[in-house]
Amino acid sequence: MCGIVAYLGDKDAYPILINGLRRLEYRGYDSSGVAMMDGGVLNIQKCQGKVSDLEAHVGSQGMKGTAGMGHTRWATHGPPNDINAHPHRSTSGDLALIHNGIIENYAAIKEELMHRGHTFKSDTDTEVLVHLIDDIQRSEGVDIAEAVRLALVSVVGAYAIVVMDRKEPDLLVAARKSSPLVIGIGDHGDHFVASDATPIVEHTKNVVYLEDGEIAVMDRVNGLKVRNIKNQVKTPFIQELEMHLEALEKGGYDHFMLKEIHEQPRSIRDSMRGRLNVTKGEVVLGGIKDHEQKLVNAKRILILGCGTSWHAGLVGEYLFEELARIPVEVEYASEFRYRNPIVGEDDVVIAISQSGETADTMAAIELAKSKGATIFGICNVVGSSIARVTGAGSYTHAGPEIGVASTKAFTAQVTVLTLMALMIGQRKGTINSSQFHRLIHELDSIPDKVQQVLLKEPQIQYIADIYKDAGNALYLGRGYSFPVALEGALKLKEISYIHAEGYPAAEMKHGPIALIDEAMPVFVIATKGASYEKVVSNIQEVKARKGKIIAIVTEGDQVVKGMADHVIEIPDTLDPFVPLLSVVPLQLISYHIAVMRGCNVDQPRNLAKSVTVE
Ligand code: AGP
Ligand code: GLU
Repeated sequence: MCGIVAYLGDKDAYPILINGLRRLEYRGYDSSGVAMMDGGVLNIQKCQGKVSDLEAHVGSQGMKGTAGMGHTRWATHGPPNDINAHPHRSTSGDLALIHNGIIENYAAIKEELMHRGHTFKSDTDTEVLVHLIDDIQRSEGVDIAEAVRLALVSVVGAYAIVVMDRKEPDLLVAARKSSPLVIGIGDHGDHFVASDATPIVEHTKNVVYLEDGEIAVMDRVNGLKVRNIKNQVKTPFIQELEMHLEALEKGGYDHFMLKEIHEQPRSIRDSMRGRLNVTKGEVVLGGIKDHEQKLVNAKRILILGCGTSWHAGLVGEYLFEELARIPVEVEYASEFRYRNPIVGEDDVVIAISQSGETADTMAAIELAKSKGATIFGICNVVGSSIARVTGAGSYTHAGPEIGVASTKAFTAQVTVLTLMALMIGQRKGTINSSQFHRLIHELDSIPDKVQQVLLKEPQIQYIADIYKDAGNALYLGRGYSFPVALEGALKLKEISYIHAEGYPAAEMKHGPIALIDEAMPVFVIATKGASYEKVVSNIQEVKARKGKIIAIVTEGDQVVKGMADHVIEIPDTLDPFVPLLSVVPLQLISYHIAVMRGCNVDQPRNLAKSVTVE
């Protein structure tokens, strides 16, 4: 989720905020805005586009005041436009608020607030917060800090927020839950707040990282005070920043790709946020709820995408067929659009795209639409062209993906497809209640298991060093792991420029086996599950030709360990969720090999992040 910067002190806030927003630009965003307090007036300026657009919008005279806050928005609820941009203002006009994250129960709160006379201007989930705080402040007669606390008690979701109150111009209130927030303490009693330390580091090295559930009040007179949501006083732990600016932009990682690989426990959780409710035993996808019946009754599902999104679609094929018993065809959008495809009103099409701007996918959607099919989108970028034309669908909520090689977007796409398949399977009765509960419990544990896989990085780095000079590589998998083999091979090709092929393990003997010799690394996904024994036989076939085996196995596996040159263990899980775990070591292998070969990992040659040409 996107960027926050705020300032309270004796200096001109506007240049500090604009500079801070520029520092946050690397996170990717679609709109920005600033709120400034000046002489009891709360002035808000915001617009769609870049920070430079905001500056142009504000004009060369800038904005006055020594307290203010700025935001870069990465839309999750409502398209990127001037109105949805933050800050948002309360109905009374007294409060302004910026927010990173997602308020899961915003719809219920919004309804209640509308009954109480609040009017909403934007489509965002964020706007409910500012009205809720305002409502509590008035009805309870409490100060702004207490109103924020009381409001947050009834909020479900992830947030980092900063609130300003025209009636209390010497205060800034900030709070966080599952979305980071750092407070900088300046030398002259001034305070900074930001979603990461990049906008702060040039002003002060003394920072406090706010903990989940904490609310910070910065006061010109009384300095910084921290409480938690239960109203217990907390002692802020001030620490010294040691990082350099460049490293900070990438969250301390050397490349965006590595940062995004490591973000996956969180991005997978964000894709499920508000959709998977294990306690209630429920999967609800807001964006397709109204068209759910179409999916449940579908005779056939057609999945369209390109590259990594097409690979996610292949995992979707296995998921829908197994869990929802619906036949699926997965098509390269570029092929589909130039055939005379048989598609009609009975068909449901799911178009998958991280960027939501891929020209081939867009054209394929238009074609399917013209033939009367119902189209659902799975996109990461809110308000993108594909999200707009598809009308119904689900966002992946993975946050901005900057590295050209897609990593966290893939796992988020697979997560959303999994939720869709589970939802249809439950409605159709193709999975019974106990299977459904077992599956959703396991899905809920996947983010933690991805975290465990990430701990294998030192071992993966060691393996990368051994195979970094390979000229070719083969990736094998069966069932759910076949698309992962394709994705593993694509990652290696894209960023290390080593030629790599992904194959269904059993197909190897029909051709690629001719390539195998002692110089050929063969990555095999050999986790416990339906096709385990078969894959073990395929490993034997490679070994007999002296190929080098790097196997991804289930923790504790001894059989493959006895045959392979290297094994990377991943936690045990149910078959449909294996891709979410097994792709991670393959992403890391490619990353480390590319780094060792001196390649430009985040911007590989000849590739673009969004392919808007045919
Ligand atoms: C993935 O690593 C690639 N950069 C590429 O294959 C990508 O997945 C493809 O261009 C589709 O992009 P989209 O998801 O934005 O539509
Ligand atoms: N959910 C909010 C919105 O859509 C905040 C998004 C963000 O983190 O930038 O406006």
